[in-house]
Amino acid sequence: MLVAVLPGDGIGPEVTAQALRVLDALALPDLTFEEGLVGGAAYHAKGHPLPPETLDLARRADAILFGAVGDPTCDNLERALRPEQAILGLRKELTLFSNLRPAKMFPELAEDSTLRREIAEQIDLLIVRELNGDVYFGEKGMRQTADGLREGYDIMSYNEAEVRRIAHSAFKAAQARRGLLCSVDKANVLETSQLWRDVVTEVSKEYPGITLSHMYVDNAAMQLVRNPGQFDVIVTGNLFGDILSDQASMCVGSIGMLASASLDVNGKGLYEPIHGSAPDIAGQGKANPLATILSAAMMLRFSLGQAEAADRIEAAVAKALAGGARTADLGGVMSTSAMGDAVLAALAA
Ligand code: IPM
Ligand code: MG
Repeated sequence: MLVAVLPGDGIGPEVTAQALRVLDALALPDLTFEEGLVGGAAYHAKGHPLPPETLDLARRADAILFGAVGDPTCDNLERALRPEQAILGLRKELTLFSNLRPAKMFPELAEDSTLRREIAEQIDLLIVRELNGDVYFGEKGMRQTADGLREGYDIMSYNEAEVRRIAHSAFKAAQARRGLLCSVDKANVLETSQLWRDVVTEVSKEYPGITLSHMYVDNAAMQLVRNPGQFDVIVTGNLFGDILSDQASMCVGSIGMLASASLDVNGKGLYEPIHGSAPDIAGQGKANPLATILSAAMMLRFSLGQAEAADRIEAAVAKALAGGARTADLGGVMSTSAMGDAVLAALAA
């Protein structure tokens, strides 16, 4: 099995290096790694954030381990050349439409949550975010209004096949969990959301065992901090899912903790922490590598058929946290590599 490793920008290489150490320590047979350039790093070396050889590597691979992209020195480039286009391009080119972002409270981190302990402790939810459509991929541009004002626009749309596809992913995820699915939209204002709601409701007929509810996104943002324990699986569009998953991450202690899987219909996937490249702390050894290490565990489980190895990594992370391992985002002083050491030590114990 081939794993494409795309470290990217900012803290991406630092956190990816720690995930690779952990994968290495597991000494899994028949696993090979091949590294590729992506994001600003690829732009500076090759003139494009997603060079053809990187896309080719991603296509050949059985799974992709991704760090982060984003580089302030690229902020003034035309949009097609900005680092973010690399991750958006990979999601689109490989039809990675189903983004699973689990948020579960590690009991050891209850004090790190921005919520009160008794509320934070109840969090065990999964955000299923659609990743191939919405305002992210609609027509966009800059134009002038009739009276000469600059106007930016981005068209939001979903067709019913796109909604049906992600709805099935979400219902199946709910079947493997507590059987509750909350679909988040803005159907009181947006036609895109009305179609979303109608189609999710149609698909629900095929899943009689799942309890479906609908929630407007503003209310969902509020409920996520008021009573996050009510959620099991949340399914939502690309933009709302982007926002709600960052919010969910702070509810469980730190954005440095949330892993994600982006899957196609066959289970091939790209695995990445939900955080960005954090240029402000890049190269300082301050980043928390746990989100990437936990993403590697998801990769073993969903794309590489190594559920047991995935369990071992997750247990080692819990053990390291229980033993007091804390990077700066968790109120500690541990470096990125020291956190990697702590996970390796827990793995060996
Ligand atoms: C994420 C990120 C990306 C997104 C950016 C880097 C394009 O915020 O994966 O959540 O908006 O999807
Ligand atoms: Mg995001």
